[in-house]
Amino acid sequence: MDVSIILAAGEGTRMKSHTPKVLHRICGRPLLEYVIEASKNAGIKENYVVVGHGGDTVKEHFKDTDVIFRNQPIGDQYPYGTGYAVMQAIDSIRDDINVIILYGDTPLITDETIKEFMDYHKKMGNHATVLTAYVDDPTGYGRIIRDKDDKILKIVEHKDANEEEIKVKEINSGMYCFKGQQLKYALGKIDNNNSQGEYYITDVIKILKEEGYRVDAYRIEDATEIYGVNSRVQLAFCDRVMRNRINHSHMENGVTIINPENTYIDPGVKIGRDSIIYPGVFLKGKTVIGENCIIRENTVIEDSRVANSVEIISSTIEESTIEEGCKIGPYAHLRPNSHLGKNLKIGNFVEVKNSTIDDNSKAGHLAYIGDADVGKNVNIGCGVVFVNYDGCNKHRTTVEDNAFIGSNSNLVAPVVVKEKGYVAAGSTITEEVSANSLAIARARQVNKEGWVNKKNFKKDK
Ligand code: UD1
Ligand code: CA
Repeated sequence: MDVSIILAAGEGTRMKSHTPKVLHRICGRPLLEYVIEASKNAGIKENYVVVGHGGDTVKEHFKDTDVIFRNQPIGDQYPYGTGYAVMQAIDSIRDDINVIILYGDTPLITDETIKEFMDYHKKMGNHATVLTAYVDDPTGYGRIIRDKDDKILKIVEHKDANEEEIKVKEINSGMYCFKGQQLKYALGKIDNNNSQGEYYITDVIKILKEEGYRVDAYRIEDATEIYGVNSRVQLAFCDRVMRNRINHSHMENGVTIINPENTYIDPGVKIGRDSIIYPGVFLKGKTVIGENCIIRENTVIEDSRVANSVEIISSTIEESTIEEGCKIGPYAHLRPNSHLGKNLKIGNFVEVKNSTIDDNSKAGHLAYIGDADVGKNVNIGCGVVFVNYDGCNKHRTTVEDNAFIGSNSNLVAPVVVKEKGYVAAGSTITEEVSANSLAIARARQVNKEGWVNKKNFKKDK
């Protein structure tokens, strides 16, 4: 069975970060996760990740996945280099398998390319195959040096290249396929006699070539696939490429994205046909959007499910569910564990938290609905507060079907408003409101005739 060895022990100095490089994110996910996913989707079931700098943090992050970690010792007393990194996973290299080497900081590699690359390597019966590409600016990369017959001779690092070699624009991606037996053999022979004093995996290529093994290069057209992240600028570049890929695939599936450059959709998000996504929208995590939805500008939806024909304007939705036909916003906030039934209207500056609201209910303006179960056809007036917190504990409120909660009322939990209960505006409800009854819980209005004139108001100087 094939295995991958994913190198992720480097320090990533140029990121200038306390976070290990491979945990920096593009489109919401860590760099390393894309590489692991691509490898798995290419059919590789055994994936080894070599960690070093920040290794514990990386391992902790991926502890629920089935990748296998190997530690590269880090410190002045230990050697360094891509060859040394691969040696840390030497136990994974069995003679009769093929090994693909990938980088944890090269997230744009696709599963298709990995698969085609491996298929090519196997079909040609190669002992080693290098993944290469032409780039306009090869600065910093290892150069692919070919002989008169256009066959690969060796890889020369930028820092070790002579005047002729440095001009070569075909570069080493750092990804390779090896036959296990030959990789293990050649790893035993590499040294660190080079300008950087590092063990180079690239020397394996030279050694195998010199000893007459079948060594080959596989060049891909799209050089962005091998683009690595060494700095925040490159991180932003990879984020843009990934975002374009994601947005493209949604558009191809029938979603309108008005400005793909300014629409941020995580890889796992699903969107139904004929939905329209406006600029400035973030769709994050495991969000699922139905068909015919309109997600208007600057909306953020995270880990939520939105059914068909929902319109959301400039709102924030977290870990919640919205059923068909709802209209949300502008400026509504659904906090975790909110469930909205069909055809609801949740309007301006309404906050909902840990609550269910059933079909056809409305909260049009300025309300807080926290820890509540609200029935069907309920009207929640402007400025209503579900008083769910006594300073110590949270309590629930129940509002049954067809109830009416007048504006600026407080429902002090735990409390129940029964079916068709009617709360007068400005009430503070602390006891159950029985079915069909009007509850008024406010001081009665008193009019004092002539009071203003008698008082003879004067302005202070
Ligand atoms: C390497 C290649 C170069 C290639 C380039 C592509 C070598 C000698 N050179 O150079 O030909 O063009 O990648 O990006 O292989 N790593 C470890 N442990 C180490 C050293 C590195 O895990 O001890 C990891 C890094 O985290 C990184 C990857 O290996 O993900 C590449 O290391 P890096 O130092 O960036 O290699 P380059 O010098 O860029
Ligand atoms: Ca690099």
